Amino acid sequence: MESNFQSALFQNYKERDRKLNVYSNFSYKYLVNFSQTKELPIHRWFYYQEGYSPKLVKNILKHLGLLTKKKILVFDPFAGSGTTLLTSKQLGFKASGFEINPFSAFMIRVKTRNYSEEDLKQYSNFKIPEYKKMKDSYSKYDLSIIKKLFDEQKLEKIEILKEAIGKVSNEKVKDLLVATLLSILESVSYYRKAGNGLKRKRVHKDLDPFIEFQKKREEILLDLIAKTSNNAEPLIINDSCLNLGKYDINEIDISIFSPPYANCFDPFEVYKIELWIGEFINGYADLKGKRKNALTSNLNANLNKEFNSEHRTDLLEQILRVLSKKVLWDKRIVKMLDTYFYDMYIVLNEIFNKTKEKGYCVIVVGNSSYGNITVPTDIILAEIGEKIGFKTKEIIVGRTNEASSQQHAKLGSFKYYVRESIVILQK
Ligand SMILES: C[S@@+](CC[C@H](N)C(=O)[O-])C[C@H]1O[C@@H](n2cnc3c(N)ncnc32)[C@H](O)[C@@H]1O
Repeated sequence: MESNFQSALFQNYKERDRKLNVYSNFSYKYLVNFSQTKELPIHRWFYYQEGYSPKLVKNILKHLGLLTKKKILVFDPFAGSGTTLLTSKQLGFKASGFEINPFSAFMIRVKTRNYSEEDLKQYSNFKIPEYKKMKDSYSKYDLSIIKKLFDEQKLEKIEILKEAIGKVSNEKVKDLLVATLLSILESVSYYRKAGNGLKRKRVHKDLDPFIEFQKKREEILLDLIAKTSNNAEPLIINDSCLNLGKYDINEIDISIFSPPYANCFDPFEVYKIELWIGEFINGYADLKGKRKNALTSNLNANLNKEFNSEHRTDLLEQILRVLSKKVLWDKRIVKMLDTYFYDMYIVLNEIFNKTKEKGYCVIVVGNSSYGNITVPTDIILAEIGEKIGFKTKEIIVGRTNEASSQQHAKLGSFKYYVRESIVILQK
């Protein structure tokens, strides 16, 4: 039996759906995730579970009549694997973006660069060294699970590759080789990325780092040789997009992005292998600092920000009130959600200021559930956008979670709001 509070809340969701022009278009179903992207040239180099499809970016541009425009600036404040930036570059558009994770920012840079024939020749000619036994390669890393990730010989081979790559003088080629190595780490390790963390593989294929490196290099070469365009490289900033105001990015025509969802997944957790082996961070204290600068979408982020209630819409107030009366699996969840929407208010405000009149802000986002209540992030972000001055053009529901798991059964009518949507705002 749903309480009166809950049914009042549900009625409010339905009313917002009507007001905000929410409708379904399930042709987006497989575009809001990475499933189709993993086969595509360049995008496929590194599997990125939080990514969406380049086709989503193209479809949105087409839907809004921008695909045939000559010069537009596309912006992505949460660039991830760089789907928006790479697709925009391939379409010949100017593109800029932020990404807080230094490993991800590095991968986007490598994927969106232009390479000369000479660069590719040097890349192809890089010689994989002979294997030699090393002295305690584990001791170099203070990563607690390093011994569980790789057996000694595998880590030694990784180290041998790293050392040889370090001697390459052409920086672009060096980065491409580093990216090649980082892209095979998960497959040669005993662990896999799974949801919110790294989990031991149930079936472990004993893959050799030298052979996997060579295979990955062939894939990368194939993609780069086939690529014909040498369009302008996007600007990629490895900083928090909450600092957008400090940067000289202006006159944005359209932002297309997916922020971390408010689902308590820490976006750094699954990239620990690449962050450590790639030496993008100097240990746990450094990681902690980076987590605190990221968007507050999980319990490792900064939950101690001070702010007033400027960002809160009536609906958000109501949800926070209802949730604060419940016993949730962690006492900090209500604070996390409030901070999440505060951070998004700051980001949307910055984007609004930097967007051209009539320009668009397109947010791809999934809703999350706590205490048998679904938090309609799509609706709340549209309402926050309106507070700032955007108008909601529409919210396209691309995917609903129809699974009848126990968890979803408990959600009752809120089950319908377990969905991933494309929120289209216009200045
Ligand atoms: C859902 S993913 C984006 C995926 C992307 N659309 C793609 O297709 O690859 C969100 C990204 O936001 C990044 N992020 C989190 N907080 C950030 C912040 N404050 N500034 C910039 N990036 C941030 C995370 O590291 C993560 O890569």
